[in-house]
Amino acid sequence: MIKRESKHRILVLGVSGFLGSAIYKELFPYFRTYGTYNTSNKTLEKNHQFFQYNYEEDDIYEILEIVKPTIIISALRGDFSKQVMMHRHIAEYLLIENSKLIFLSSANVFDAYSKYPSYEQDKTLSNSIYGHFKIKIENMLLRLPKKKVAIIRLPMVFGPQSPRIDEILQLIDLNEPIEVFPNLIMNVTSSNKLTQQIHYIINRNKSGVFHLGSNDLVHHDDFVKEIIETLRLENKVIYKQVFTTNDERYLAVLPKFNKLPKHLQLVSQDILSELQK
Ligand SMILES: NC(=O)c1ccc[n+]([C@@H]2O[C@H](COP(=O)([O-])OP(=O)(O)OC[C@H]3O[C@@H](n4cnc5c(N)ncnc54)[C@H](OP(=O)(O)O)[C@@H]3O)[C@@H](O)[C@H]2O)c1
Repeated sequence: MIKRESKHRILVLGVSGFLGSAIYKELFPYFRTYGTYNTSNKTLEKNHQFFQYNYEEDDIYEILEIVKPTIIISALRGDFSKQVMMHRHIAEYLLIENSKLIFLSSANVFDAYSKYPSYEQDKTLSNSIYGHFKIKIENMLLRLPKKKVAIIRLPMVFGPQSPRIDEILQLIDLNEPIEVFPNLIMNVTSSNKLTQQIHYIINRNKSGVFHLGSNDLVHHDDFVKEIIETLRLENKVIYKQVFTTNDERYLAVLPKFNKLPKHLQLVSQDILSELQK
């Protein structure tokens, strides 16, 4: 039998998703870990640690009452205003219980600033509905006591089983073009690195705002081409270059104030090396 640490009870909201499932796999050998899924799924139903939960209809309190999590990890997508409401309920719970929230946010909270990469303490500003919604939740969480919240801002996440790589493979299979954005300068990360970083944040009881992207910057088109070369598919691919602006545009979240130890940092080449394995 696996001996789990009794230190934490962890609830992963969105355990059926790409990042939620990767986070669950990393944590469940060490902690009592529970999860929620929305879409009915026979395999997930069999796992008694998992709850079917739809934030558009169900009250999160019921699950919080059952699980009594000391750590809640929010890895959800979907309706923005309903998600804001759910996070408001979680914020109320955090204030009265011994519990902390790890919220997966996005580099899009800075998508209105295109001239520079962004750091943890920069003011957020977005032109997109998605970025606005993430800012709204972040601001609500930033009003809570600091130790109650870790906000994790992510750039595009890649990895062997990532939807982004799956999509590239599918498009190549269908002989369809792959869209690349030559003007977009970004940093990147992988689900493997992210799960290790979250494990560390839990173990060391870290809080605040984290920028968990690679230390280097890449052009979107170059990085996608490098992925395709790494997968040895360069002879089969058609590219469609998309120019959304005339100038180069940054969408990058770099760490400066809240850095993790060296072994938990990454460069974009690490993601390509992971794909080679
Ligand atoms: N992946 C990236 O590149 C990336 C980059 C930056 C930030 N992020 C952030 O990371 C988080 C996770 O992203 P992801 O790529 O892992 O997303 P994902 O694979 O699409 O997973 C989304 C999760 O949300 C659940 N969900 C959707 N609608 C729901 C509802 N009405 N009620 C309850 N649960 C619902 C889904 O459940 P079912 O599948 O069971 O329906 C699934 O578990 C998101 O907050 C995203 O903004 C991701």
